[in-house]
Amino acid sequence: MCGIVGYIGKKEAYPIVLEGLKRLEYRGYDSAGIALYDGKNLKLSKTKGKVSDLEKKINQEIPTNGSVGIGHTRWATHGIPNDINSHPHYSNSGDLVIIHNGIIENYASIKKELEKRGYTFSSDTDTEVLINLIEDVKKNENLKLGKAVQIALNQVVGAYAIAVFDKNKPDEIVVAKLGSPLAIGVGDDEFFIASDATPFLEYTKKAIYLEDEEMAIVRLNKEIKIRKIKDDSLVDPYIQELQLNLEQIVKGGYDHFMLKEIHEQPEAIKDTYRGRLLVKEGLIRMAGIDDNLEKFLNANRIIVIACGTSWHAGLVAEYIFEDLARIPVEVEYASEFRYRNPVITEKDVVIAISQSGETADTLAAIKLAKSKGAFVFGLCNVVGSSIARETHAGAYTHAGPEIGVASTKAFTTQITVLTLIALKLAKVKGTISKPEFQHHLQELELIPGKVEKALLQDEHIKTVASIYKDAKNCLYLGRGFNFPVALEGALKLKEISYIHAEGYPAAEMKHGPIALIDEHMPVFVIATKKGHYEKVVSNIQEIKSRKGKIIGIVTEGDIDVKELADHVIEVPETLESLSPLLTTIPLQLLSYHIAVMLNRNVDQPRNLAKSVTVE
Ligand code: M6R
Repeated sequence: MCGIVGYIGKKEAYPIVLEGLKRLEYRGYDSAGIALYDGKNLKLSKTKGKVSDLEKKINQEIPTNGSVGIGHTRWATHGIPNDINSHPHYSNSGDLVIIHNGIIENYASIKKELEKRGYTFSSDTDTEVLINLIEDVKKNENLKLGKAVQIALNQVVGAYAIAVFDKNKPDEIVVAKLGSPLAIGVGDDEFFIASDATPFLEYTKKAIYLEDEEMAIVRLNKEIKIRKIKDDSLVDPYIQELQLNLEQIVKGGYDHFMLKEIHEQPEAIKDTYRGRLLVKEGLIRMAGIDDNLEKFLNANRIIVIACGTSWHAGLVAEYIFEDLARIPVEVEYASEFRYRNPVITEKDVVIAISQSGETADTLAAIKLAKSKGAFVFGLCNVVGSSIARETHAGAYTHAGPEIGVASTKAFTTQITVLTLIALKLAKVKGTISKPEFQHHLQELELIPGKVEKALLQDEHIKTVASIYKDAKNCLYLGRGFNFPVALEGALKLKEISYIHAEGYPAAEMKHGPIALIDEHMPVFVIATKKGHYEKVVSNIQEIKSRKGKIIGIVTEGDIDVKELADHVIEVPETLESLSPLLTTIPLQLLSYHIAVMLNRNVDQPRNLAKSVTVE
C-alpha cells in the first residue's frame, strides 16, 4: 500500500506533489510527507495523519518552493504511524532521500550490517534501511546514484516502488519497481512519478508503467532510460495514451466518493456490458472468453481466487456458473490458497478477481496457479494493473475509478461480467435453453434501470439507518445467490461504521448465531420473491419470536415479509440469479448513511487502504 508521487521539471513541484498525494490517499493515510529541492537545498516535512495535516504543517516548517519534489502517503507496515516513521527518509549523510511503497523483508539483517559500519537509524522502518544501503553502496564503490540503487536492490528481498533523489545530482530521480505499481508521466521536459496515473492526469496523458524488476532514471532534458534491475539490459520504454479523465476522479457534487460510486452503478453496469451484451442478436461477445473458449469448455472446474468484496463477487459467481453453465466452481481466499499447497492441474481454469489489480495475495495466488499449469483469467477494473498483466487473458469491468475504500460499483460490475461469462458458457455448452438465454439477456439489459429505481429508496433507507445506527452488532442473512450479498452487506457495515456485523446463510442461523438474537439485534434479511422465499420467511419467524429487529430487503409488492418485519426496503423484481445486483444497493446505502451519522471517515476508514499490496 502507500502512495508515492514525484515531480521533476520546470513547474513548482509542491502543488503537484501535494494534490497528487490527495489523489493517492486511498492507498493509505496513516502519515504523509514531502521533500522538495529548490536548486540549493533539500527540505523535508512529514507528519503523522492525513495529507491535510501535512498541508497545515508544511508551511511552518519549510519553504515550499522548488521544481523537484517527492511525496508519500503511508499505510504503516514497519513501525507505528508517527512523524519519524513517515516518509520521505533521508540517508545518514542527508544527501539522499527516498519514498517507498512495499516491504523490504530482509531489512533486519541489512540493518545489522549497516550498524556495524556506523550507520544510525532514527525510524523503525525498512525504508530507512534501504536508503542507507543505497548510500553505503554508492560511497564504497564511488558510484552514480542509478548504479548504487541497482546494486542495492539486488541485495534486498521484498516488494517496492521507490523514488530516490540525490541533492548532488539534482537533475534526476531514480525509480524502481517490484511488486508495487509505479507509473511515470511523460510531459514536455518534465516527468511525473506516481503509484497510479491520477496525480498527473491534467498535465500529460502519456504514461509508462514500469514492469516488475525494472528501474528508470528520469532526467531533465534526456530520454528516459529503463533497465532490468537484475541483468542491466535496456528496455524500450512503452508509452501509453491514458484513457482516464479528470472528472472521473473528483467527487462531482457528492459528499463522498462512496456515495458517488453507489450512484454511478447504473452507468457502470451499462459500461460493463456495452458491446458485450447483444440482446437483439441473441449474443454475448467477449474477446477474452471467445479466444479461450476451449480452455473453459474443457475445464474440470473453475477456481475463483480473490479477497474481500471481490471474493464475495466470486461466491455469487459460484452460484451463477453452477446453476447456468453446470461447471463446478470453487471459491478461494487468495491469501489461503497461496500458502496451502492446493491441488491444481492443467485442466483447471482460475478466475482471479480484483478491482485494483494490485492485491498482493491475489497476485501471488495467480503466480502459484500459473506455475502449476492452470489457465488464469483476470477480472480487473484498473486497466494495465499488475494482475491484468500477469494473467493469461482477462476482461475489464470498465467501472471507472473506484476511490472510496469500500468497494461498491466494483462488486456489481464484477457480478455483471461473471454473469456474462456464465451465460456465454451455458449457451455454448447447451445447459440453457434458447428462450431462457434470451430472457437472461433481456433481464440483464434492464438491470441499470432497476438499480436506478432501487436508489430512489435512499430517503427511506436513511430513516432506517437512523433507527439502527447505534447498534453494537448486526446480523445479515441471505440464501442462495443472496448469501454472498449478506456477507458483503456485513463487510460494508463493518469497514465504514466500525459496527460489528456478521453475514450468514439464513438457514445456518439456527446452528449457532440464533443465540445472539434479542431485542437489541438488528437482522437484515434478504428475502426476494424467487429465492427460497418461504424458507426465508420461516427464518424471519424464528427471529421474530426471539424479539430480534427485522429489516427485510424484499421484492416490490411483497406482502408476507412486510407483515413480519419492523421495516422493509423494496427492490424491483428480476431473475433470482441477477437479484444480487439489486439487493446489494440498499445494503450499501444503509452502511453509508450509518457511517455518516456516526461521523466516520467514509472514504478512508481507519486502518484500511484501497489496494492491499502487502501480505
Ligand atoms: O482490489 P481488490 O478487489 O483485489 O481488493 C480486494 C479487497 O481488499 C477489497 O475488496 C476490500 O475488501 C474492500 N475494502 C471491501 O470494500
